[in-house]
Amino acid sequence: MSNPDLSSFPLHNLDVVILAAGKGTRMKSRLPKVLHPLAGRPLLHHVVDLAYQLQARKVVVVTGHEAAMVEASIPACVPSMASAVPDIVCIRQEPQLGTGHAVMQALPACGDDTMVLVLCGDVPLTLPGTLQALLHASQGNQLALLTMEPLDPTGYGRIVREGDAVRAIVEQKDATPAQRAIREVYCGILAAPAQRLRSWLSRVKADNAQREYYLTDIVRLAVEDGFPVVTHCIADTVQVVGVNSPAQLAELERAYQRRVADALLDNGVRLADPARIDVRGVLECGQDVSIDVNCIFEGRVELGEGVHIGAHCVLRNVVVEAGARIHPFTHAEGSAPEEPVRIGTGALVGPFARLRPGAKLGADVHVGNFVEVKNSTLAEGAKANHLAYVGDATVGERVNFGAGSITANYDGVRKHHTHIGADVHIGSNCVLIAPVTIGAGGTIGAGSTVTRDTPNGTLTVARSRQVSIPGWKRPAKPGP
Ligand code: UD1
Ligand code: CA
Repeated sequence: MSNPDLSSFPLHNLDVVILAAGKGTRMKSRLPKVLHPLAGRPLLHHVVDLAYQLQARKVVVVTGHEAAMVEASIPACVPSMASAVPDIVCIRQEPQLGTGHAVMQALPACGDDTMVLVLCGDVPLTLPGTLQALLHASQGNQLALLTMEPLDPTGYGRIVREGDAVRAIVEQKDATPAQRAIREVYCGILAAPAQRLRSWLSRVKADNAQREYYLTDIVRLAVEDGFPVVTHCIADTVQVVGVNSPAQLAELERAYQRRVADALLDNGVRLADPARIDVRGVLECGQDVSIDVNCIFEGRVELGEGVHIGAHCVLRNVVVEAGARIHPFTHAEGSAPEEPVRIGTGALVGPFARLRPGAKLGADVHVGNFVEVKNSTLAEGAKANHLAYVGDATVGERVNFGAGSITANYDGVRKHHTHIGADVHIGSNCVLIAPVTIGAGGTIGAGSTVTRDTPNGTLTVARSRQVSIPGWKRPAKPGP
C-alpha cells in the first residue's frame, strides 16, 4: 500500500455515520454497549472524536437499543475547546433490521454532494490517519472498503475478488466453504458518495441467512452498476476490533493505554512500567518527568519539568509544577480541568496525602502522610506533615501545621474559614474552630482548642493547666 498524501484529500464535504443501534447482548449489562467506558469515556465518544479529527461536516449517530440513554450522552462528548465542531444529530432506527437499514435511516440527514464514511460506535481505536487513507483511496467518488487479513477470519464478511477486482462481500453465515477460506475480510468501515449509497441501499433486500438488510450488499450492486470499488487493507487489526464482551473491552483498554504509554515514552517521559499506567483523559508532561508504577491520571493533568510521581497515585485535574515530588499512594482531585488542584514548584506531597477540590499548594509546601487538604491555600514553604485536616483555610508562608491538628470548618450547617498568618506554628493536636484568625508569627500550644482570634506574635495556649497531685492513691481493688 503506497503512503497517500493525506493533506491532499478535501475533507470539508464529509459526513460521518456512526452505527450505534445494536444491542450488545454479550456485555450482559444494563448499560448500552456504546456507553461502556474506555479510558474513562464512552466507546461512542471515541468514535465521535474521530469525526472531529477528520473535520467532518456532519455526524449522524444511528441509535436504537436504549436510544434515549445513548442520545443523552452526546452533549458530553462535544469537546468544549474544539474550534470547528461539526453538526451532530441522532437518528433512531426502530426496529433494527440490519446495517444497511441503519445507514438508510441516516442518509436523509446527510448531504447530496458529500462522501459518507460509515463507522461503528463500538470500534474505538481506529486512527484518523487510517480513515484519511481510506478516503484518499476513494478519491472522493468511489466505494472504498477498509479490509484486513486476520489469522482467523471467522465471523467477518469475506472480500470476494475476481482477479484483483472486488466482486462482493459475503457474510459468514451466507458464505460457501470456499468463500469461508478467504482471509481478506471487511472491517465494518466504508466510504461512499452519498447519492450512490442512497441508490444502492434502496435496492438492498433482506434475502439472506439472517433476514437482515446488509450494508455489505451494496458492493455487489456497485459492481453491477460498473462502479469502481477500492480497498484499503490494514495490518494493525486492533484499530478495527469491536467491543462485544467485557473481555474484549478490557483488551482494548490495555491496547489504548499502551498507545498512550508509548507516546509518553517517545516524548521522554520515564515510565517505570509502560504496562502499568492508566491515562483516562489528557496527561501533559514537561521534560524529565518520571512516573512509577500503577498511577492513574484522569481529567486533565499537567506535570511540570522534573516532576516525579511515586507508585499508586491517583491524580485527577491536577497541575504539578516543576520539581515537585508526589510520593506513593497520593490521591489528588480537582473538581474540573479548569479548576485543578495546584501543587507548587518543589513541593513534597504524600505518601498517603489527600488533596481535594480547591487545594492550592505554593512552592516548597510539604503535605505529608494522612493529611487532607480541601478548598485551602497553603502559601510558600508551609508544612503539614502528619495526620492533619486543613479545610476552608488560608495558610500563610512558612506555617508549620502540627501533627493531628485540624481546622474545624463545619458547624453542622455552614462552612467557615480559617486564616493562619505567615510564620505561625500550630502545635500538635490543635482544633482551630472557624471562623478564626491566627495572627502572623504566633504559636499555638499543643492540644489547644482555639475559638477566638489570636494576636500576632503571641503564644496562645487554650487547654487546662497541668496539675500533679503528690501522694495521690489509686483506688485499690478489694482483696479476695
Ligand atoms: C458487520 C459486517 C461484516 C463485517 C463486520 C465487521 C454487515 C452485514 N456485516 O458484521 O461484513 O465483517 O461488521 O465487524 O454489515 N447495527 C445497527 N443497526 C442494525 C444492525 C447493526 O446500528 O440494525 C450496528 C451495531 O450496533 C454495530 C454495527 O452496526 O455497531 C455492526 O453490526 P453487527 O451486527 O455487529 O455486524 P456484524 O455481524 O459484526
Ligand atoms: Ca460486530
